[in-house]
Amino acid sequence: MRTQLPVVDADLLALLRADLVAARYTVPGVAEVLGPMAGAALAREHPLAAEQVTATSTDPCAALIRLFALGAPVDLRDVQAALPSVGIDGVAALCLVRQEGDGLVATCDLRPYAADDSAWWVASDRSELATGAPLTPDHVLGIGGASTTLATWTPRTRVRRALDVGTGSGVQALHLSQDADEVVVTDLSERALAYAAFNAALNGVTWDIRRGSMLEPVRGETFDLIVSNPPFVITPRDGSMPLFEYRDAGAAGDAVVADLVRGLGEHLAPGGVAQLLGNWEIRRGTDWRDRVGAWVADSGLDALVVQREVQDPAQYAETWAHDSGHRPGTAEYQSMYNAWLADFASRDVESVGFGIITLHRPAEDREPFVDLMDVRGPVGEAMGTTVAVGLAARERLAGMSDDDVLDETWVAAPDVTLEHHLVPGSSEPRAVTVVQGGGLRLRVPLGTGAAAYLGVADGSLTPRQALVAVASLIEEDPAEVISATVPTIRYLVANGLLVS
Ligand SMILES: C[S@@+](CC[C@H](N)C(=O)[O-])C[C@H]1O[C@@H](n2cnc3c(N)ncnc32)[C@H](O)[C@@H]1O
Repeated sequence: MRTQLPVVDADLLALLRADLVAARYTVPGVAEVLGPMAGAALAREHPLAAEQVTATSTDPCAALIRLFALGAPVDLRDVQAALPSVGIDGVAALCLVRQEGDGLVATCDLRPYAADDSAWWVASDRSELATGAPLTPDHVLGIGGASTTLATWTPRTRVRRALDVGTGSGVQALHLSQDADEVVVTDLSERALAYAAFNAALNGVTWDIRRGSMLEPVRGETFDLIVSNPPFVITPRDGSMPLFEYRDAGAAGDAVVADLVRGLGEHLAPGGVAQLLGNWEIRRGTDWRDRVGAWVADSGLDALVVQREVQDPAQYAETWAHDSGHRPGTAEYQSMYNAWLADFASRDVESVGFGIITLHRPAEDREPFVDLMDVRGPVGEAMGTTVAVGLAARERLAGMSDDDVLDETWVAAPDVTLEHHLVPGSSEPRAVTVVQGGGLRLRVPLGTGAAAYLGVADGSLTPRQALVAVASLIEEDPAEVISATVPTIRYLVANGLLVS
């Protein structure tokens, strides 16, 4: 049976917020109480170390961790001491707790969350960690790995109107509230929208909350920034699988993401950006770039897509069965696993890609660019800036001829280094690689011309000047050296390794 949803009461929420701050139930406060080991274990959804640390602590923050993050029963007196202003009656009136024996048990998960200079709290359904049971079909997610991935990859600039499609408990919308005059959020799930309303009120922000499927509630409207961590999980549709609202929007294969990508164009204002996560099927013998590229073709939008992970069908089944709280050895796990393998086999799907899609409507009339990159390794932290810089660089390059690129004085970015690979005993490198310290952390092997240019890219020479000199030194045709090198220079500029 589902628990009651949290109630929005502005007066009680103000008291609750004051109590949470006073108890230091904040990201740094929780980190201090748990310490690095228990904190890291809890982030991996292993609660035992956190249970040990908080069991003997008299810190009010420890009581709140037990109550709201670990789902443990907490003595009434400890809750009263930790939340003296709102009090037990107040948290009960907000429908955040229920009595169980001598203690109180939380009816939802409530965690502090912080990013940049902001500190928030996010209420959501209790996780498997707290309930010890698989998730229910209408489960409302808290802050997961995908949520933070999208949040860190979203460019943050001041905008007028922002939209969060599939807002869930409103994690992305909290971020949007920092930079947007107006935030619209949508979700199909009434339960999710109740949490979103509660979280907006708890954090003192205002959203225009609309119920409906994907982009339906914003028909005819445009936005400057759209974000979506959509229900992108590819789920067999033969009825053999429990469905979860948080990850399954009811379409076959990767159609949910394809339709969303195709639908976003009409909702982006000139200069507007859409940032979303997605899965895509990779059929045997095909290239993921062709599939995802077809979703954006003819849209008039710029597209920058970074594939971050590729899983085979078995890995995919393991990931998503585990995510919904199912464990190997149960009949349900086995049936889900088999259904996934059969579903992928029926479409000859060899693997599934996961990545981040950025769409941009050019502010003026020009040919859009489409760039699909495979970057699987670790990346920098502030990826939103990388995306913004990457869009701006590509937009600039779209307006530059090869001659323009050759006659600009580029400078190697401060995080760029060159690796010279030497055969022992030789002073001439056999290979040269340019390495990016931040952002996508690209490693780009360089040909002779690009290696020579990068070696002197301090703003004193244009590529043309450097390449003509190199061609004369190695006794090759300058035109050939130049034409062989221009694509690399464009690639390095697009990705922020060369700047001006
Ligand atoms: C993966 S969760 C994302 C939650 C949150 N935005 C985040 O970043 O963590 C996907 C959300 O999409 C919602 N959803 C599912 N089907 C939908 C649909 N057809 N239209 C709109 N939202 C839908 C789910 O209820 C869920 O809240």
